[in-house]
Amino acid sequence: MARKKIALIGGGQIGGVLAQLCALRELGDVVMFDIVEGMPSGKMLDLSEANRVDGFDADLKGTSDYKDIAGSDVVIVTAGLPRKPGMSRDDLLATNAKIMAQVSQGIKEHAPNAFVIIISNPLDAMVTLCQRLTGFPKERVMGMAGVLDSARFSCFIAWELGVSVKDVNAMVLGGHGDTMVPIKRFANVNGIPVYDLLKRKYNGDMNKVEEVMTAMVERTKGAGGEVVKLLGNGSAFYSPASSAIAMVEAILRDQKRLLPVCALLEGEYGVNGFYVGVPVVLGSKGIEEIVEMELDDEEKKLFDVSCAAVKELVEAMDKVL
Ligand code: APR
Repeated sequence: MARKKIALIGGGQIGGVLAQLCALRELGDVVMFDIVEGMPSGKMLDLSEANRVDGFDADLKGTSDYKDIAGSDVVIVTAGLPRKPGMSRDDLLATNAKIMAQVSQGIKEHAPNAFVIIISNPLDAMVTLCQRLTGFPKERVMGMAGVLDSARFSCFIAWELGVSVKDVNAMVLGGHGDTMVPIKRFANVNGIPVYDLLKRKYNGDMNKVEEVMTAMVERTKGAGGEVVKLLGNGSAFYSPASSAIAMVEAILRDQKRLLPVCALLEGEYGVNGFYVGVPVVLGSKGIEEIVEMELDDEEKKLFDVSCAAVKELVEAMDKVL
C-alpha cells in the first residue's frame, strides 16, 4: 500500500513541528509549502537527514509550487501571521483572510480530494473561508482548536490535582477565542468528576472549589495569550501541532476518535451555517458524526455567546474581503 501524503501549507513554527511529528510517527510522506522560497526545502532536507537517527521512512519535500501538493490525502494549513503580544486572534483577520483566500485556491486546484485541517487564526473565520472557497464537503474541511483548548484545560486540571494528565478528560467547546466554553461539569479524572476531587482537596469548601475551577477556566481561555506574552515573538507551536496531528491520525488510521473539532453546523446545537467547536467522531470519512451534548442552561448560554462572537467575526471577515 502506498504511503499517505500530507501537505503542510505554511512552513513556519507550527509547520516545522507538524513535519517532525508526521515523520516520527510515520504518518506518510510530507510536502511543506511556503511562499518563502528555499526555506521549506531547507527544513525538509534537515529533517530528512535525521531519518537514520530517528528511524523513520518518509519522503519529505519542501516547495513553493502548489503543484507539489497534488495527490495529498490531508492538507494542514498554518499559513498566516501569528499574534504579537497584546494582540487578540481576531486582530489577524484582515491579513490572514487574504492569505487564506490564496491558499484555498491552491488546495482546490491541486488537492481536490484532500481532508483539510485549518490551524491559522482567527480559526473559526479562516476555516469558514476555506470551506466556502474550496467548496469541499463539510466532512472534509475542519478547524483545529478544541483539541488544543481541551488539552490545555486538562493540563491545568492535572497540575491542580497532582494526577497524571493521562487520566484527565475535559472538553472545551465553542469558538477559538475569549468566549470559548470549557465544560466544567463533565471534566473528570478517570470518571471521577473534577468537582468531587476539588471538594475533597479543599475539605468541602465550595467557595474555594469554585474559585479554583474558575481560575483554571480563565487560564484555559487565556492560555494562547499567556504563551504569546512569554515568547515575545510568535505564538504557541508545539501544542497546536500535536493537537492537529491527533486529528490527522484519527482520519488516516480511521480511529473514530470523539474529539472537539471546529465543524460546520447545519441545525445542530441550534446553529445554522457557522463553524463552531463541537464534539465530533473523526475517522476515515473525516467528520463522520456531530455529537450533540445536552448542555445545561449555563453552558447553553455561554455556548450561544461564543456562537454570536463567531458570527460577528465572520461578518467582519465578509466586510474586509
Ligand atoms: N502561503 C503560504 N504560506 C504563507 C503565506 C501564503 N500566502 N503567507 C505566509 N505564509 C507562511 C509564512 O512564510 C510563514 O512561514 O506562513 C508561515 C507562518 O509561520 P509562523 O509565522 O511561524 O507562524 P506559526 O507560529 O506557524 O502560526 C501560524 O497558526 O496558530 C496559528 O495564530 C497562528 O495564524 C498563525 C498560524
